[in-house]
Amino acid sequence: MGHLGNELGAIFARGFEAAGLDPRLGDVRRSDKPDMADFQCNGALAGAKAAKRNPREIATQIAEAVTGQGPIASVEIAGPGFLNIRVTDDALARTAAAIRTDTNMAGASKVADPQTLILDFGGANVAKPMHVGHLRTAVIGDTLQRVLRFLGDQVTSDIHMGDWGLQMGHLITELEDEQPGLPYFDAAKTGPFPRQSPVTIDDLSRLYPQASAKAKDDPERNKRSQQAVAEMQAGRAGYRALLQHFVDVSIKALKIDYGFLGVSFDLWLGEKDAEPFIPDMVADIKARGLAKEDDGAWIIPVEREGDTKDYPPFMLLNSRGASMYHTSDLATILDRVQTYSPDRMLYVVDQRQALHFEQVFRAAEIVGYISEDRLEHLGFGTVNGTDGKPFKTRAGGTLKLGDLTNMALDEANKKIEEGGRLSADIGPDERARIGQLVARAALRFADLQNTRTTNYVFDLDRFTSFEGKTGPYLLYQAVRIKSLLRKAADEGNVAGDIRIESDAERALVLTLDGFSLALQQTRDKRMPHILCEHVYNLAQSFAAFYGAHKIASEDDADLRASRIALCQAVANQLNIGLDLIGIEAPERM
Ligand code: ARG
Repeated sequence: MGHLGNELGAIFARGFEAAGLDPRLGDVRRSDKPDMADFQCNGALAGAKAAKRNPREIATQIAEAVTGQGPIASVEIAGPGFLNIRVTDDALARTAAAIRTDTNMAGASKVADPQTLILDFGGANVAKPMHVGHLRTAVIGDTLQRVLRFLGDQVTSDIHMGDWGLQMGHLITELEDEQPGLPYFDAAKTGPFPRQSPVTIDDLSRLYPQASAKAKDDPERNKRSQQAVAEMQAGRAGYRALLQHFVDVSIKALKIDYGFLGVSFDLWLGEKDAEPFIPDMVADIKARGLAKEDDGAWIIPVEREGDTKDYPPFMLLNSRGASMYHTSDLATILDRVQTYSPDRMLYVVDQRQALHFEQVFRAAEIVGYISEDRLEHLGFGTVNGTDGKPFKTRAGGTLKLGDLTNMALDEANKKIEEGGRLSADIGPDERARIGQLVARAALRFADLQNTRTTNYVFDLDRFTSFEGKTGPYLLYQAVRIKSLLRKAADEGNVAGDIRIESDAERALVLTLDGFSLALQQTRDKRMPHILCEHVYNLAQSFAAFYGAHKIASEDDADLRASRIALCQAVANQLNIGLDLIGIEAPERM
């Protein structure tokens, strides 16, 4: 469905073309001065420069040519040659009516160039606790997968777990110290091993910090873990069986944390799943002379002429012959190219790993798997505490994702109780559910509303507030529309033809009309905050409309039916918009 901005753009493009000018000058956007115009076109100024003509004269010519066409009510020339456009009330009414009945897209449209995409996000590590950075990749990645799918892209998401590194060695050795009698530690045994895991997730979160603390002060202890991981990587059966248990137990726990946040993945693969490709991959790269030996290690030089900073080489194998973080990412690319032939691969990973991805992407192109420009690192900024430093627990450690969601849940419940928000007839189960939805909305929106690449300050008190630019505020407005519409239906008030008469109604429909563009830009820039901004504006325009008008209590029956229909249009788009952000509004609060 074409939104008004598009329709106007097409009309203005034809206008410029008819005047012998570049049709691209007809670009139309929302006006930044809503009291003067709904939309604006600044093409006359650029056109004047190119054609060496007077801009006001061009503007006059264009205004005359387009007036009366399509949704245009009036075109006025301002200043040196700006074109200020008003659209008709009718066009706005039609727009709102179309959004109301478009239950699939709420006024947005599928893209013309759908792509096959791999979306790599989440990146949780087995046993190692997740930190706030893992919250960011989870909600940004999940929102992107929702938006891209909604717009028609074919997305396969993969959590790409960290399940192959030294932490596995720590777990193995620490478990061996605690339970040396387990069959996994018998080097001669090749299986079968028990199906029941010897550890729980609590064991894992205890064993890992225990071992890594010991290894810090004791190089011998560290060596043992290195040895264990090397043997695991080399295929020692008992260790492989343990690895699988560790991974299974971790995934089960992760699904709970991610479930709370509404985050999902198609594939639960990890570094270990790239491992079977590594031996052949390395041999092939060596055989083609693309890697070179360097002090016992194998590297792929990735620096280029014209580089403005240092590019250390890509590490294929270290001097002990072991594969590295680089290696597993390259092998994963090979696997994905062969399995999915994606147009592009997107990685939602902390900005601080930028160099890693530059090296991997360059290497992937050098070895001929995929060209670098089809690989995107979507970096994000750091979550800081109120002291401006990376966010830590009170005790100073990084916070686990589970602890974080629990804190958010407590704070959300506190806010709900304090505000006396829930009506008395809401029972304990529904209350608990509402608390969860509020906490999820708080965490997700607080993160997503920031430009992806900037840092933000973690402040639960602010995030969970029902006032301000917050998730709970959005839920509050969404619930308000739901109850209003439910009540109207109960009272037999039906929707009718939409009429646009007041400023608040105009503003509301113009906001609704911006959904399509906001989504396109969210996709083009891979920036969820653009969608968040739109949804927040919609909630605010609705609040203003709600404050300015009677709806179900309006005496004029036609007007009442029109406003109910308008509320339905808003509800439709707001629910879809919230769903794309991964936020669900309760039925009532
Ligand atoms: N496990 C890594 C970490 O916690 C993130 C993995 C990101 N994805 C990737 N393909 N390297 O830092």
